[in-house]
Amino acid sequence: MKLDVGIIGYRGMVGSVLMQRMRDEGDFDRINPVFFSTSNPGGDAPSWSNAGPLEDAKSIDALSKLPVILTCQGGDYTKEIYPMLRNNGWNGYWIDAASALRMDDSSVIVLDPVNRDVIDKALHNGGKLFTGGNCTVSCMLMGLAGLFKEGLVEWMTSMTYQAASGGGAKHMRELLTQFGDLNSEVKNLLDDPASAILEIDKQVLTKQRGGLDTTQFAVPLAGNLIPYIDTQLENCQSREEWKAQVETNKILGRSGDAIIPIDGLCVRIGAMRSHSQALTFKLNKDIPIEDIESIISNSTEWSKFIPNNKEETIQKLTPVAVSGTLDIPVGRIRKLNMGPTYISAFTVGDQLLWGAAEPLRRMLNIILDFKNS
Ligand code: HSE
Repeated sequence: MKLDVGIIGYRGMVGSVLMQRMRDEGDFDRINPVFFSTSNPGGDAPSWSNAGPLEDAKSIDALSKLPVILTCQGGDYTKEIYPMLRNNGWNGYWIDAASALRMDDSSVIVLDPVNRDVIDKALHNGGKLFTGGNCTVSCMLMGLAGLFKEGLVEWMTSMTYQAASGGGAKHMRELLTQFGDLNSEVKNLLDDPASAILEIDKQVLTKQRGGLDTTQFAVPLAGNLIPYIDTQLENCQSREEWKAQVETNKILGRSGDAIIPIDGLCVRIGAMRSHSQALTFKLNKDIPIEDIESIISNSTEWSKFIPNNKEETIQKLTPVAVSGTLDIPVGRIRKLNMGPTYISAFTVGDQLLWGAAEPLRRMLNIILDFKNS
């Protein structure tokens, strides 16, 4: 039986990637999609779908008719609509890209290649709220879950190198505009091989310090980095840094004394859509590096072990190599000078795929299988 599935926020960046993935994988053959809009109810549904006119995304009556709702509309929408729907007696499945409900007791953070057991348990216990995880957390676990599942991790630090896409579409545009403006500023000097590099550098810096549009990021990102992502918490962690421990442990179904300490710094860099992370693991026992490599490469079907040599690292372990693919390469694995239980790793993942859209479409399919079983 095909279920009606309400889809909200399908035109934004995550929503667009999600729609493309669902079309690529034939997910629409399994559902009757009902598209919703906050701005254009009554308008046409996407031309590639056979759906009727757009429904009003603020209509609790229209939403209440649906057994499953999948939203990429954002946290403000979720905070406004979700409680009203539930208070109205709606008992359907809510699948959400936003972080608003992630840490809610009733929600499961979905990353089924890693926590299918947690998802299945929730479904069988009547769970109806499923949220996508933070992009760095999901991408890290897609590459390295094996170490956690084997119970080997005493603690982990993550130092992130996060792409502009994590901010949104406007942020990606701003980064590219800044790159272009910097190039234009010194184009004549660049074209002249005899010009002085320090003069070029000086003019670029002057432009960065006062001549760039920084509406989205507040400071320049092109030729720069920003060692702070999201809002500040009372303990001086950024919210993005806080998510690493709470979400990783929630995904893994760990709580109380079983919580694995995870902490680090989150940094925005001028990559387009793939987040990278340098990780340090403290293992609770000394095991051979070959065993560690093999556990990591078996983390999920998508984790790809990259041997720790320069050539393969620079070819295969970068945002440019990974963007647009579901691969999660993991490399730079070695024992650190601190001792045989201290392990380094570096991983990259497409923030819009495993970091956002992919876990949601997979969760939709898990619900469809569950309802049809
Ligand atoms: N918060 C992330 C970032 C993206 O700013 O890169 C969404 O998980």
